[in-house]
Amino acid sequence: MSGSLERITAELEQLKDPNVTGTWVSALVKEIPELGRLPPISNDFWTSDLKKAVCNPFFLHGLKNVIIPNISYEKALTRLRKALLLFQPDIPDFIEAMQAQCFLNEYVFYVSDEEKEALKNTPLRALYESPPYKNHPVLALSDIEDKVSKKVKSQYEENPYPRWATINKTDLEIDHTVRNVLVAGCGTGRQSVYAGFGFPNAKITAIDLSQASLSYAMEKTKEYGLEIAYYQGDLLHAAKLNQKFDLILCSGVLHHMEDPEAGFDALLDVLAEGGRMKLGLYSRLARYDVNYCRAHIKQKGYQSTADDIRAFRMDVMNAAGMLSDLKLRADFYTLSRCRDLVFHVQEHQFSIPEIKEFVGKKAKFLGFQVDPVLWDQYQKEFPHNPDAADLDQWHLFEQKYPHSFRNMYNFILQK
Ligand SMILES: C[S@@+](CC[C@H](N)C(=O)[O-])C[C@H]1O[C@@H](n2cnc3c(N)ncnc32)[C@H](O)[C@@H]1O
Repeated sequence: MSGSLERITAELEQLKDPNVTGTWVSALVKEIPELGRLPPISNDFWTSDLKKAVCNPFFLHGLKNVIIPNISYEKALTRLRKALLLFQPDIPDFIEAMQAQCFLNEYVFYVSDEEKEALKNTPLRALYESPPYKNHPVLALSDIEDKVSKKVKSQYEENPYPRWATINKTDLEIDHTVRNVLVAGCGTGRQSVYAGFGFPNAKITAIDLSQASLSYAMEKTKEYGLEIAYYQGDLLHAAKLNQKFDLILCSGVLHHMEDPEAGFDALLDVLAEGGRMKLGLYSRLARYDVNYCRAHIKQKGYQSTADDIRAFRMDVMNAAGMLSDLKLRADFYTLSRCRDLVFHVQEHQFSIPEIKEFVGKKAKFLGFQVDPVLWDQYQKEFPHNPDAADLDQWHLFEQKYPHSFRNMYNFILQK
């Protein structure tokens, strides 16, 4: 076994470095050349060499734990899955790992008509369909009456976001001083579980609209041995928690509300004096590719069903130009994230002046959370005033480098 594939597989779970996943695919193809030259699907597909190759333990480990945002890798896996379905070779370890991979990516791979036919009578359905969610009873914080919140809830009941397997604790910053944290719009609990480890002395409360997302979060919280109080409800009613928090985390949530500012006000109301809030909001400038794809979806009349999302993904995979840029986003590679990315029922986007207007009057802007490369670039751009909290400067910077906030504007405020 190559040491390099072994090392890179160990690093795979440290998803902070997006290059690791591409490097892993290259090492994999070097180690298992059969993956780079899969034959056409026929009775002769499953040679003994290929069966042995796909049972490589590092490949199996990767399949069970991570989604690799890479089109050639996806195409190879899609073909392998089809060949499993049609010929049912006796390779239980690989079948189990492929089931785990398909569960993780929520069956995002394209399904041909031939497969749909074969699926009517197969013991391998679990390669194509999720087992039902285990529903945990969850405490209700409030009724969900707001009409947009109802629509958003229904999206996340169908597609809890994000489906995740593990977290990376290696370079987690630990803060022992934080006492009371609210995760507003916690989804499937990745953020609240991170908070559980990052703030070991804090009581953690998390709320979300979606029962299915909260169930996933509760399952994961149990798996990690943490205690987190989960509530189902609208963050507009956060005051019903009857608590003041010294830290509120709210990432990727307010821009899905009818009135993001009303959501912000409701959170500010439960933030203690001097407390901090970390927000994540979409940048209009950075989402040019998303907006282009949304127009394509509208023109093609695609709905947010699994089949239409898969058909849309095929358009992107076969396209050149702007449509194909979406392949560069990790969210493209699972069903719930792809739905979240371009099929969302409600999405607001912001510019930096709008953020300034939106939060500036009510809280102190402490700065964006950016990676070290972007931070270096920013400091070089403004060597005489490298002030992280100068929103006017950041606006100039973003206009010059529109990809800067491709993920989101992640920033910290203080009350
Ligand atoms: C894109 S997901 C983000 C999940 C999580 N913050 C993360 O980053 O992994 C958005 C989540 O916000 C929740 N959400 C949206 N509007 C909400 C509201 N008004 N009150 C509570 N949760 C809300 C949704 O149910 C969904 O789970």
